[in-house]
Amino acid sequence: MASSLTNLVSDHLYEQRIRQDSLSVEKLATTFAPLFQSAQGDALQEALVAAGGEMGGRLMVIDEDGKVQFDSFSRLCGIRLQLPEVLSILTGGQNTAYGIHHLEGGQHSLTADAADEYVAYCTASIIGTRGRLGVLLFVAPVQEMMTSLNNVQQQLLRVFLVIATAALVVAMVFSRVITRPITALTRTIQKMGKGDLSARVKVRGSGEMRQLAESYNTMADQLERLDRSRNQFVSNASHELKTPLATMKILLESLIYQPDMPAELRAEFMQDMNHEIDRLTSIITDLLTLTQMDSRRMELHTSLVDLSELTEETLRLLTPAAEQRGQNLTGRVTPGCTLVADRSKLSQVIYNLTENGLKYTPDGGEVSVTLSVEGRTAVLTVKDNGVGIPPEDQGHIFERFYRVDKARSRETGGTGLGLSIVRQMVTLHKGQITVESAPGEGSTFIVRLPMDGKEVSAS
Ligand SMILES: Nc1ncnc2c1ncn2[C@@H]1O[C@H](COP(=O)(O)OP(=O)(O)OP(=O)(O)O)[C@@H](O)[C@H]1O
Ligand SMILES: [Mg+2]
Repeated sequence: MASSLTNLVSDHLYEQRIRQDSLSVEKLATTFAPLFQSAQGDALQEALVAAGGEMGGRLMVIDEDGKVQFDSFSRLCGIRLQLPEVLSILTGGQNTAYGIHHLEGGQHSLTADAADEYVAYCTASIIGTRGRLGVLLFVAPVQEMMTSLNNVQQQLLRVFLVIATAALVVAMVFSRVITRPITALTRTIQKMGKGDLSARVKVRGSGEMRQLAESYNTMADQLERLDRSRNQFVSNASHELKTPLATMKILLESLIYQPDMPAELRAEFMQDMNHEIDRLTSIITDLLTLTQMDSRRMELHTSLVDLSELTEETLRLLTPAAEQRGQNLTGRVTPGCTLVADRSKLSQVIYNLTENGLKYTPDGGEVSVTLSVEGRTAVLTVKDNGVGIPPEDQGHIFERFYRVDKARSRETGGTGLGLSIVRQMVTLHKGQITVESAPGEGSTFIVRLPMDGKEVSAS
């Protein structure tokens, strides 16, 4: 671009110069023709000197043989000049010629200043009345023009160099800015791939990169949480399984090392061990249920379920246990509440909630189960007047293995899995479960199930 631009500028300058010089020289040639023809030597010489001084160059009149006849510098008279511009008129049949020449060191300059490197020769034929008389040669010093042209060229080159460098730097900076977040993300993903789940990307800037970083971090959070809860689950499960095993080992060792144990005690120990085995089995069943639901392998075996009937049935199942502890288990069930659902899972929901109500209510307490229909939603309420749940625990009771009073639950045989199973099953049925409770006053669990299969909205 720089060189083509300088070419454009120099072409324009040259052309202007050529036109100007050619025009003046042609005009002079016509003025001098009569003087040359009539051999008025002095007058011609005078005119040459005057015109040469005016044009700032050297004027020469050359005859048909190529010999200098008149010279405004009066030095080369009689010498044959073999310049291409002169020859192109004398032998080439042209009327005017122009040429710029670069004089190598030592070559004789025809201008006033011997140091000039560039000269321009402009020639025009002198036409007399009987044809061509000779050639008028104008030697113009163009050193100044060439120097300024050179300067322009260098200046332009410098400017373009600066622009190119700046463009390169800007491009590099931009590419760095664009790729840096991607590189950071890649590095973080690699870290995560190696097992460091705590790796996060720094969220910076705006637009798509920011969105990507945020989405990635959210995903990483989720993964980390999942990983942590899985670890917690495994350690809790192991702990829960260890307890009955330890109890059984003690009982068994007593039986082994005390062969003379009374038969009654022995029977009691056997009973205890049987009880622990039941407990283990129930924990393992619960765990299996939960992990099955986790891996989404649990399918709903749906059919048209009469929830009213199912509730009554579950209440009947639990009544003997309630009676044993003098508790009053009552049911207020709206008949004919049907929905398409998994019967055994809903049965487990009702059972677990009612069992909890009985378990966490002192002897002689009250547990009431209500089933009603609100629009297209079946509402199951299990209310007791038992120990209640402190507000700070209410957000956790649906977590696996979470028990409010660890010691008490151990006594009553709870593992802390019942409610998490309930919540999973309610969610599978697109329902919702909420709890209202005050310590010492009792608890109310409310389950809302859609009867038309559409998700229950938050209430
Ligand atoms: N009706 C209730 N009244 C008071 N506390 C309750 C009630 N229901 C649940 N809880 C509290 O919530 C905890 C979790 O209940 P969840 O049913 O999940 O476990 P669990 O009853 O201890 O054991 P299991 O797995 O045998 O059901 C209980 O340990 C208890 O502290
Ligand atoms: Mg329970």
